[in-house]
Amino acid sequence: MKFFIDTANLDQIKEAQDLGVLDGVTTNPSLMAKEGITGRENILQHYKDICEIVDGDVSAEVVATDFDGIVKEGKELAELHPQIVVKVPMIKEGIKAIRYFSENDIRTNCTLVFSAGQALLAAKAGATYVSPFLGRLDDISTDGLQLIADIRLIYDNYGFETQILAASIRHTMHVVNCAKLGADVMTGPLSSIDGLLKHPLTDSGLEKFLQDAKSFQ
Ligand code: E4P
Repeated sequence: MKFFIDTANLDQIKEAQDLGVLDGVTTNPSLMAKEGITGRENILQHYKDICEIVDGDVSAEVVATDFDGIVKEGKELAELHPQIVVKVPMIKEGIKAIRYFSENDIRTNCTLVFSAGQALLAAKAGATYVSPFLGRLDDISTDGLQLIADIRLIYDNYGFETQILAASIRHTMHVVNCAKLGADVMTGPLSSIDGLLKHPLTDSGLEKFLQDAKSFQ
């Protein structure tokens, strides 16, 4: 399972990269705005800065919603760095653009996916990644994990190569459950990765070992 971090914060990206388990980064316009990154040139530079920190794929989202606009913006993003994956919303024009990108060797991440039917369409169009937002489904009392399981079943039935990128991850149990269901990738905040480290028996066990080790000195 690949671990992506879902942030545009360079310090957090560096911290996750330093842990040695980071496979990529996802961003979206809200995450860029949260970091105060505004203006086209600054945004493009920020994507390049992220690519310099991580070795893996970096999703950069288009804001155009018409086919020509998505293609123009996506090409500009893809040309920034070989690690860039163009993030395209799950709308009709987006699906047409994903088909175009897939035929022109530009990798894509189909975002804002909330149903198995949408995920099927993204795979048919040739998306590299599909991003089902499980946390946002859980927020409205709908089982986000069931969606991950349904997409896994459908993709395996037909051998689709589109990777399931479990997005809108909120906590460590989302990560563990997505791993159990066979999601190819998870993207979440740094806390969802750091949380995997924690167990009280590890802490108390280490404390005892260190105490007993003092007798060796
Ligand atoms: C996915 O790529 C999105 O950036 C993200 O996971 C959305 O998460 P949120 O629901 O916590 O905003």
